[in-house]
Amino acid sequence: MMKRTMTFFLAGLLLAGSLTLQAHEGSDLDSILAKKRKEDISFAQLMQVMHQATQMIFDGIMFENKEMVALGAHLLDEHPAPARGPAADMVPEKRAEFRNVMPAYDKVFHLAADRVRAAAAKGQWQDAYAGYREIADACVACHAAWRPYALSRQSRPAQ
Ligand code: HEC
Repeated sequence: MMKRTMTFFLAGLLLAGSLTLQAHEGSDLDSILAKKRKEDISFAQLMQVMHQATQMIFDGIMFENKEMVALGAHLLDEHPAPARGPAADMVPEKRAEFRNVMPAYDKVFHLAADRVRAAAAKGQWQDAYAGYREIADACVACHAAWRPYALSRQSRPAQ
């Protein structure tokens, strides 16, 4: 009897926990976007900036130039957001889902930016490179999952 009550209690706790988490995730992107500079750029143009930031981090590691790594990490952290919203360039039926996955990637990039910055500052280039790989892995993972749903991909024949 006692055991059963406990099970219900735990199930309730878990449910409450996951609901709170969901509500939190929903508002996450809004709070991330609230802090971002909004500019008249497409999602692809934002991506071009993200690419240059990542490239700068990579170059900084190869040149063993910690300032260059710090500048790239800063750009990765402080990138602007497309004023028309982050999902406007995706097919309409996937926009809500696309917005939902964004906070997780944002978190990976911020943590990895901290890692590359701290490692480069100490001249720990292997650790900086591991941080760079975390960034690049996340870029490519999102591309595999989401680029097919970009409006820009819809008119092209399958490759
Ligand atoms: C949340 C998912 C997501 C993440 C994370 C992401 N990308 Fe993208 N990326 C896309 C999508 C979707 C497109 C296609 C956009 C389009 O064609 O309109 C794209 C396109 C690009 C392009 C092509 C831009 C062009 O001119 O057509 C580059 C370059 C790029 N991403 C680099 C990166 C880099 C570097 C990172 C990591 C720092 C990254 N992306 C992270 C989803 C993502």
